[in-house]
Amino acid sequence: MSSFSSKIGVLLAAAGSAVGLGSIWKFPYVVGENGGGAFIILYVVCSLVFGLPLVMNDFLIGKLSGKSAYGAFRTLSGNNRWQWLSCLMIITVTLLTSFYFVVTGWCFYYMVEAAMNTFAGMDAEALTNFFHTFEHQPTTMIIYAFIAIFLTAAVLWFDVNKGIERLSKILMPMLFLMLIAMAFHMAFLDGGTKGLRFLFEPDLSKLTPKVILEAIGLSFFTLSIGLGILITYGGYMPKEQDESMLSQEKNVVSTSVQMIVLVLFVSLLAGMIVFPAVFAYGFSPAEGPQLTFVTLPNVFQHMFSPTLTSVSFFALMCVAAITSTISLMEVMVAFICEASGKTKQPLNRHQSVTIVGVIQLITNSLCILSMTGSVSWLTIMDKNLFDAANNLTTNILIPIGAMGTSLFTGWFVPKARYQSSPLVSFIYLMMLRWIVPIVILIIFLESMNVF
Ligand code: PHE
Repeated sequence: MSSFSSKIGVLLAAAGSAVGLGSIWKFPYVVGENGGGAFIILYVVCSLVFGLPLVMNDFLIGKLSGKSAYGAFRTLSGNNRWQWLSCLMIITVTLLTSFYFVVTGWCFYYMVEAAMNTFAGMDAEALTNFFHTFEHQPTTMIIYAFIAIFLTAAVLWFDVNKGIERLSKILMPMLFLMLIAMAFHMAFLDGGTKGLRFLFEPDLSKLTPKVILEAIGLSFFTLSIGLGILITYGGYMPKEQDESMLSQEKNVVSTSVQMIVLVLFVSLLAGMIVFPAVFAYGFSPAEGPQLTFVTLPNVFQHMFSPTLTSVSFFALMCVAAITSTISLMEVMVAFICEASGKTKQPLNRHQSVTIVGVIQLITNSLCILSMTGSVSWLTIMDKNLFDAANNLTTNILIPIGAMGTSLFTGWFVPKARYQSSPLVSFIYLMMLRWIVPIVILIIFLESMNVF
């Protein structure tokens, strides 16, 4: 059975999964669209109040069962009734990965183009055109998505502690240092303090129910909840000498809190990089998804060293994205290894990585061909596959997965509940049984425009 060799390894790998395009690409533009400081407070509160019980729940399910998302529910419940949740998670991960690699490919492309000085002298219009032209170049997009898939598969080829753990221990500290250095650089821009004020001065009038739901949804996405990732990593937690329930639970609580703190820290740093720059050069913070790929390269052109700043920023995005794709693909690899272990022909890690890699090459190519319009019939309900997979996973499948794990532990599996302290276990149980499922139901209905 694969496992991490140290607690810090688990923490960095889990933080690597959580810190990704969500924190660095999505977080700044969602903050920008929702009025800055007030949204940040909400995001922090939601991550701690709703995110923490769910992260702990995932880790505990994995640790107590010692299994990945495939076998954990069956092992803990002792029957097959929860197998649908495992299947749902693997479908969600497969769909999510089918567009996540596409965006990861964009980051690699932008890093290479920045290094070749392509953006030099481009204004906002030229950069918008550049982005739209790229969006219609299937071959280039497929090549870069393949590079990202290949790099991820290369890491997974090794055992968990030699591949994921070792790489996370190198890449995550590097990522933190790069973020801190860039945030420091931006803080000294003339006019940059306006951006910091936007980020940290809350305007409470901006808080509407819709903004609250947006904050909860974003915190689930950035914490990698609802897909079996943290269950799988929980299954890889190293065995301790003291395997009592108390010590296992203590361990899970400390890893969960540390992971959430790291994610919040990185998201704030991403904001501290983006907003001073955006404000210093008179751009709008509410540019939406194109903030990263159009506005920022434009902002960087005005800075002291445009090439170095652009390359560093996109390199940082590549690192963040790759540590997330590693966790997504690992769930699929562990699933195949575990599921095939029951058959006459168990597959080893290398075979599973190859199968998952090939599946990803196919699904990502289909997404790209569909979104570039190269194959016109590749759509679902008038949406291209990229948008369909993005909406379906973020708005429907991730909330169902999170709600399922919450109800599983809350109502059906006492063994997986937190037990060490009566007060904490009572609050934890109420969260899993009632509050988290109801909140998720509301987000779910909201995203389907029921309200
Ligand atoms: N948490 C990752 C991010 O912020 C996205 C992700 C979601 C990764 C779910 C894995 C699973 O980008």
